[in-house]
Amino acid sequence: MRRRLVAGNWKMHGSRAVNLALLSSLKRSIVPIDGLGVAVCAPFPYLSQVADSLRGSSLVWGAQDLSEHDVGPYTGEVSGPMLADFGCAYVLVGHSERRVLHGETDRQIAAKFGAAQRAGLIPVLCVGETLEQRDGGEMQAVLRRQVDAVLKASGVAAFRRAVVAYEPVWAIGTGRTATPAQAQAAHLHLRSLVAAQDAGLAAELTIVYGGSVKPGNAKEIFSMPDVDGGLIGGASLVAEDFTAICSAAAAAQKQE
Ligand code: PGA
Repeated sequence: MRRRLVAGNWKMHGSRAVNLALLSSLKRSIVPIDGLGVAVCAPFPYLSQVADSLRGSSLVWGAQDLSEHDVGPYTGEVSGPMLADFGCAYVLVGHSERRVLHGETDRQIAAKFGAAQRAGLIPVLCVGETLEQRDGGEMQAVLRRQVDAVLKASGVAAFRRAVVAYEPVWAIGTGRTATPAQAQAAHLHLRSLVAAQDAGLAAELTIVYGGSVKPGNAKEIFSMPDVDGGLIGGASLVAEDFTAICSAAAAAQKQE
């Protein structure tokens, strides 16, 4: 059975006091189950607070970005080995806000994916099309281009220790969610891109959905056969909502 993952992406939100309350609540309310990982991805300054708070719990943590370089004169950057030094498990790579606001290219994102794996971290490769691209019938081609960049740089075997997140740009933070059928179609396409090179590996690959997942729609989306959990933005900042979304993933896991 494929592993499921629910990862919270706090983006640029939080303070020490707010994080403490949120994490304590999550530790109390999230029930660990086999085959489902739960992670929170916090801003860099808070990672050590999150690491300390989650130690000994079933939750793990991740970062939202990393440098493609391991060490050197890269002011303002944070490397994979630094994150690993603190016990980081996951790192988001190529989130659409990085692609759009920071001009990250497919090549750079593929390099970051490689850097994460060199450091022993699990990259969560974020891919997704804009509304314009979807309306232009380019969804499949865009996802292919984004995945191909990593396949070319790292090879298909690299996906053995990676997660893919399908995040249609038009659904992120907009309240507009992909329908379960739209998510399923995109996830199936993503799986087929990897399956073309290694069918066994593709069958095991965790592909999560992100984009306005809320307690009210999580169950439906997670019940799709190729949707293995979620990358949760806004709702990950509210303990009850994130807990409810994790429960929906746990229920989907048990049903399999
Ligand atoms: P959202 O964000 O859940 O607030 O839409 C998802 C993401 O950007 O990872």
